[in-house]
Amino acid sequence: MDFSKRYILVFCVSFLVKISVIQSEKESVCYDELGCFSVEEPWSGPLRPVPLPAEPQVIQTRFYLYTRKRPTKRYYVKTWPGIDMKHSSYDGSKGTVFLIHGFMSTGNDTWMEDMKNAYLNNVDANVFIVDWGNGASDGEYNQVCANIRVVAAEIIRLTTYLIQKERAAPVRFHMIGHSLGAHTAGYVAKSISGIGRITGLDPAQPLFEGYKKVVQLDADDALFVEVIHTDAKPTVPLLGAGILRAVGHVDFYVNGGWSQPGCQVPVISLQKIVSRGISFNPVEDIVDSVVCPHNRALEYYTEALAYSNCTFWGRKTGFIKSAVSILSLGWLSRAFNYPSDCSITTCIPLGLKTIDFPARGSFEIATYTSPPYCISEKKVDAKMAHELSLYLYNTADVD
Ligand SMILES: *[C@@H]1O[C@H](CO)[C@@H](O)[C@H](O)[C@H]1NC(C)=O
Ligand SMILES: *[C@@H]1O[C@H](CO)[C@@H](O)[C@H](O)[C@H]1NC(C)=O
Repeated sequence: MDFSKRYILVFCVSFLVKISVIQSEKESVCYDELGCFSVEEPWSGPLRPVPLPAEPQVIQTRFYLYTRKRPTKRYYVKTWPGIDMKHSSYDGSKGTVFLIHGFMSTGNDTWMEDMKNAYLNNVDANVFIVDWGNGASDGEYNQVCANIRVVAAEIIRLTTYLIQKERAAPVRFHMIGHSLGAHTAGYVAKSISGIGRITGLDPAQPLFEGYKKVVQLDADDALFVEVIHTDAKPTVPLLGAGILRAVGHVDFYVNGGWSQPGCQVPVISLQKIVSRGISFNPVEDIVDSVVCPHNRALEYYTEALAYSNCTFWGRKTGFIKSAVSILSLGWLSRAFNYPSDCSITTCIPLGLKTIDFPARGSFEIATYTSPPYCISEKKVDAKMAHELSLYLYNTADVD
């Protein structure tokens, strides 16, 4: 038997074992106040071998609250057995933000701290960092995909409490999720109607793309859904981690959405092998090349929140470009230049202001190749700057 046949056989056997394990185990499980979870379609099936989620005690979802009154010191929200927010600085009359991380990440990652700071500098809001690191670090991706159902249920439980006991309004909620966290935000918004806004930062592709809307982030989930695509290439064979299709009201494909400047395809050169000697590890290079464009969405969004002197201008992609994005030929999309005209219906900035602009659809953004990636306002042509300022500030003195 040659190698490829043997490989396929092993793959099929392990696949069947997995399916039969799923079927022989319990079909569903219920947790107090969090509800029941089943492995029925569309959550699981022959083409989506996803098991039941781990127990809430294993995932240990935690919430850290920050406000302008308490911008740096964590307030640990007590969630079990009952939710207790005594002596917190939470104010339901202001907006509420949830930052949700993805696979192999935790709530202690620096990007969450950076994004929280950038948000609070801009808006007087309540920002919760969701830490489900114990449920995200299981090396088995399929299991982690299941765990986000429990994480979503924990967020739903807290959100319901805030609405009922703290006078919070769903329309003032802004859920920001990276990778699997983007789908988690979608699950929350599917069950609490009228959630104002979701920002999906390169939502995860494997086991989501192409499956039913129930299991993935979708434009119908919230009043406004925006998505930033930075690693939209097929997982097989190119190891892309981000969703390819446009799933929001506004979808930004940054630098074509395919890959990002400075994120290299792993090149295993002789020089590298020699210079690193015994510590040379090609797997490390491959992991870096997968993680780099997928995580870049975090840097772009944090910059968009932090800098008022520069912006990521999205320009509407034409029909050819949309087709190219759908086919995920990001490299090809770079061959088409931006449309020369940029007006209030064809351009839109990335950041908190996105929602205030009328344009909807898929947009392309070009960035600098190193931080700060955003492009200064001065570089935007005069006509566009004029039109946008009129729209934003309703004043005419921009010349
Ligand atoms: C994050 O840090 C807090 C405080 O040090 C710790 O209690 C928690 O376990 C950490 N989270 C994870 C997932 O390790
Ligand atoms: C914008 O301001 C920040 C500091 O607030 C600075 O680091 C950055 O270089 C500035 N960017 C541009 C394009 O002027």
